[in-house]
Amino acid sequence: MRIEVEKLTKRYRDADRELTVIDNLSFSFPDRGSVAIIGRSGTGKSTLMHLLGALDSPSSGCVRYGDTNISSLRSDERAAFRARNIGFIFQFHHLLPEFTALENVALPLIMSGMSEGEAQERSGALLDKVGLASRKEHLPSQLSGGEQQRVAIARALVARPAVVLADEPTGNLDVATASDIQRLLLEINREQGSTLIIVTHNHELARSLDMVVEMHPGGALVVQRDGRGANA
Ligand SMILES: Nc1ncnc2c1ncn2[C@@H]1O[C@H](COP(=O)(O)OP(=O)(O)OP(=O)(O)O)[C@@H](O)[C@H]1O
Ligand SMILES: [Mg+2]
Repeated sequence: MRIEVEKLTKRYRDADRELTVIDNLSFSFPDRGSVAIIGRSGTGKSTLMHLLGALDSPSSGCVRYGDTNISSLRSDERAAFRARNIGFIFQFHHLLPEFTALENVALPLIMSGMSEGEAQERSGALLDKVGLASRKEHLPSQLSGGEQQRVAIARALVARPAVVLADEPTGNLDVATASDIQRLLLEINREQGSTLIIVTHNHELARSLDMVVEMHPGGALVVQRDGRGANA
């Protein structure tokens, strides 16, 4: 799915000051493939992800998915759009504590109307793929941090969303586990033909992706791998 941001601006206001975090940003993401968002703390990476995921509205400008301007949707339409098109993976994964790994992954499918049997079968296959074949019946509290994060990844990808937004998905894991999980995300991204947008502090990973958006306090630098570099 083609995602474009056009003249995207986000300001936060408190009582006595205004902070422009994203300032008139215009560029397109690739239809499929992988994109890294990098930059120092506080430069607006999470803010951009929230705008891309229709979790927050821009101060001006818009985000388009294909022909749909998601910034102009009503909040119920936005929720429906998110459920159909976007998988979210965040640093803190918010698994449901009273449900097993398998149930956590299957739940979004069942809520979207899939039969329980089919949902469990598809979820089980994805849990096998992320290396949790023997952990399906465990509760989140019975899993390690990295295992919980892999459940969260399976849950985000199980409905095969066209777009996957990952905000520091491995930020709280050791280096080796983090790089395993990143490799897995890229592998599934290629298999599913989706667009993966990942916030990362790992510059080596960023360099290996199709596009890099580097956030700076004054604006963003967009580097496309086909050789076109653009200041946005
Ligand atoms: N709801 C809010 N109200 C006011 N200011 C906010 C709000 N959310 C974020 N900010 C400010 O906007 C700026 C960008 O925040 P953001 O969370 O997007 O940064 P980030 O690049 O994701 O940083 P990090 O690497 O630390 O996660 C920061 O200065 C932050 O304090
Ligand atoms: Mg952040």
